[in-house]
Amino acid sequence: MSALDPDALGARAESMIAALGSVSAEPGRLVRLYLSPEHRRAADLVAGWMRAAGLSVSEDALGTVRGRFGNASRRLLIGSHIDTVVDAGQFDGPLGVIAGILAAEHFASANTALPFGIDVLAFGDEEGTRFSATLASSLGCAGAFRPETLGLTDAKGISLADALRAYGKNPDDIAAAAYRRDEAAAYVEVHIEQGPVLESRNQPLGVVSAINGQTFLLLEIFGEAGHAGTVPMLLRRDALAGGAEAMLLAEQIARETRGEVVATVGRLNVEPGAANVIPGHVVLWLDMRSGSDAARSQFVERFKAGCRDIADRRHLGVTITTTREVPTTPCDAGLQQQLGAAVAGFESEPPRLGSGAGHDGQAMAKLCPIGMLFVRCRGGISHNPMEYASPRDMGLAVAALIRFIEKFQPG
Ligand code: GLV
Ligand code: MN
Ligand code: MN
Repeated sequence: MSALDPDALGARAESMIAALGSVSAEPGRLVRLYLSPEHRRAADLVAGWMRAAGLSVSEDALGTVRGRFGNASRRLLIGSHIDTVVDAGQFDGPLGVIAGILAAEHFASANTALPFGIDVLAFGDEEGTRFSATLASSLGCAGAFRPETLGLTDAKGISLADALRAYGKNPDDIAAAAYRRDEAAAYVEVHIEQGPVLESRNQPLGVVSAINGQTFLLLEIFGEAGHAGTVPMLLRRDALAGGAEAMLLAEQIARETRGEVVATVGRLNVEPGAANVIPGHVVLWLDMRSGSDAARSQFVERFKAGCRDIADRRHLGVTITTTREVPTTPCDAGLQQQLGAAVAGFESEPPRLGSGAGHDGQAMAKLCPIGMLFVRCRGGISHNPMEYASPRDMGLAVAALIRFIEKFQPG
């Protein structure tokens, strides 16, 4: 076992994070959507790093960049995503790709013989910012891509299928992106925690026990548009007032679960959207997460019933569509133990914690056992340009990943 220098690894991670963080659609803020010109530039940058690290590089039909070390048929998959939310931080996603490259380089540069190969994967669609589905690229690797997703359109009406073609891909090749089950020994991802637990415990790294399940609901409310000055209050069918009640209902039910369920309306569409017109049609996007699938489905049932009551009372129409349903995904117990032992070589035994955020591991779990290592981030802040992880913490994560790989047995 060669000596590892977390500070040197962290300094390299920091400069790579900054380089990728400068690849954006907009000058003043980080926006890098799936299959955009910025995604292309970021993928090329990552591919160059992979080649320099001694990996052989390919790109699959969903745009996932793959850096391969070793020819063994059993593969350890290490990855994360390079797409971002709008006005993103620099660490969410890129850290896991960079950690994978730096760890693979450690073995590739010494041409270390391992009883398995390593594939570093840079996925392009974890955030779901451009199309309403998420995880298209990791689902492709897992052999679980849903073809109906190809018809989803972005804000400009471009379908996923057309966006793939414009990116130089052929949707007919998607099935070939799937790993065989006997190839994929495990999937491991390093990611910032995106929450405050590690910071509050003064620990740089944690091992993820499970990724919380998620339900996305699209709530459409139909009222009647009318003149803001003439229609008496009691005669209105105001879709936005109904939507506001529905939002507060979601907040109230989530609060009653005392932390078991979180619920967020992060997007709202109001039509016709004029200050002097009573809103006639409103669309709300509701995101719900929980570590308990039962609690999540109870929440959904209560919320739907409550929305019907609101609509009846206000003489509104309402439709509720589930656009995403992802169950809670446990991390493999053996991988948790091995990642914990790898961290304990540098730091005290790391805590186990659930992930409130979604990750590519949710898709990869359909293929093979998954494990995740969380890195402390300042103030628990994420999906925000203030996102920050220190070079030292990132370097410790890369060093722990290397130690994990050294001991990994593909089974
Ligand atoms: C992705 O980051 C998500 O959890 O929404
Ligand atoms: Mn992420
Ligand atoms: Mn994210």
